[in-house]
Amino acid sequence: MKNSFGNQITVTIFGESHGNGIGVVMDGLAPGIKVDEAFIRGQLSKRRPAGKISTARREQDEYTIESGVFNGYTTGTPVCIVIPNTAQHSKDYSATRSKARPGHADYTAYCKYHGYEDYRGGGHFSGRITAGLVAAGGLLIPALEKKGIRIATHMSRCAGIDDRGFEVLQADIDQLNQQDFPVLSARSAADMKAVIEAAAAEGDSVGGILETVITGLPAGLGEPWFDTVEGLLSHGLFSIPAVKGVSFGDGFALADQRGSVANDPFRYENGQAVTAKNSNGGINGGITNGMPLLIRTVIKPTPSIYQEQETIDFIKKEETTLQIAGRHDPCIVHRARVVVDSICAMVVADLLTGRFGTDYLGGEE
Ligand SMILES: Cc1cc2nc3c(=O)[nH]c(=O)nc-3n(C[C@H](O)[C@H](O)[C@H](O)COP(=O)(O)O)c2cc1C
Repeated sequence: MKNSFGNQITVTIFGESHGNGIGVVMDGLAPGIKVDEAFIRGQLSKRRPAGKISTARREQDEYTIESGVFNGYTTGTPVCIVIPNTAQHSKDYSATRSKARPGHADYTAYCKYHGYEDYRGGGHFSGRITAGLVAAGGLLIPALEKKGIRIATHMSRCAGIDDRGFEVLQADIDQLNQQDFPVLSARSAADMKAVIEAAAAEGDSVGGILETVITGLPAGLGEPWFDTVEGLLSHGLFSIPAVKGVSFGDGFALADQRGSVANDPFRYENGQAVTAKNSNGGINGGITNGMPLLIRTVIKPTPSIYQEQETIDFIKKEETTLQIAGRHDPCIVHRARVVVDSICAMVVADLLTGRFGTDYLGGEE
């Protein structure tokens, strides 16, 4: 499947940045999932650019639900959500059509689609396409919350500035899910914004690391080999444009630890198996162990920067330089947060439905 993801619940995204619209089709959803439109709108607004640290392109992301929802609940048939594009400025791109933006997908899109691609604004590779994923997540996240499963993500590092780590999980989740700029320490948030603005003033961009926690999952989800929980989450997360790394628990730091440090000792708490710490990120052998999942996702600096760059003209087949016009974010880490949450919701919903049945997320109020 090319633009689809998922086993029990499949999510298909469509659209181009400067076409008529973008959107998502979700199939395999249980009937009877309450659709919280205020929540979906809130999620879309967290992804939307805002303020000095974001692109000047301001889409309202008014969406329509074309099918699969009746009287506020899913019917069990495919849900199609369409988000029209309204603020395209396509002339920004035509002058530089065949100059490959370094770090972006212009050249690879040309190689794959032989020049038929809609190149305007990054076309199908644009970060804008992630709005469809966020709408899908907006439908799934409240259904998961009803089952006691909560997801939250913070910017654990941005432009070289660290946030504090998770401490009291449920309180941290409450805090983050109310924030547009998801940082646990107010001081770190202010420092990050200052560094982002400084980079923007130099026509440059910055990246960072998103750290996600998922609580409330039962032990026993996932498969031991190809559809491991790490494998499925990575597959989904690497679909997000600008993601260049995913790790679980202590991740790459495990390489330098001894087994005596890396292992998470088991014990019982109120009759339930838990681990004393969580270096393995809640996954053993590809399967959830009942501890919170801990995931880190690396977001690279926004490739479209305003400084002059060396590149190629892939139609004239010559070397050239590029001065990018158009509207771009100096940092996309905070906006990618809600996309990461949405992908996590899709994977978790798929895993739960696979184990407990197609109707697991639907049903009574
Ligand atoms: C929410 C979001 C917004 C994005 N906005 C921009 C943008 O304004 N300009 C840009 O050059 N890249 C943006 N990107 C990243 C590019 O789409 C991405 O880097 C590009 O498609 C190349 O893919 P790759 O980085 O995964 O190799 C955005 C990504 C996300 C997730």
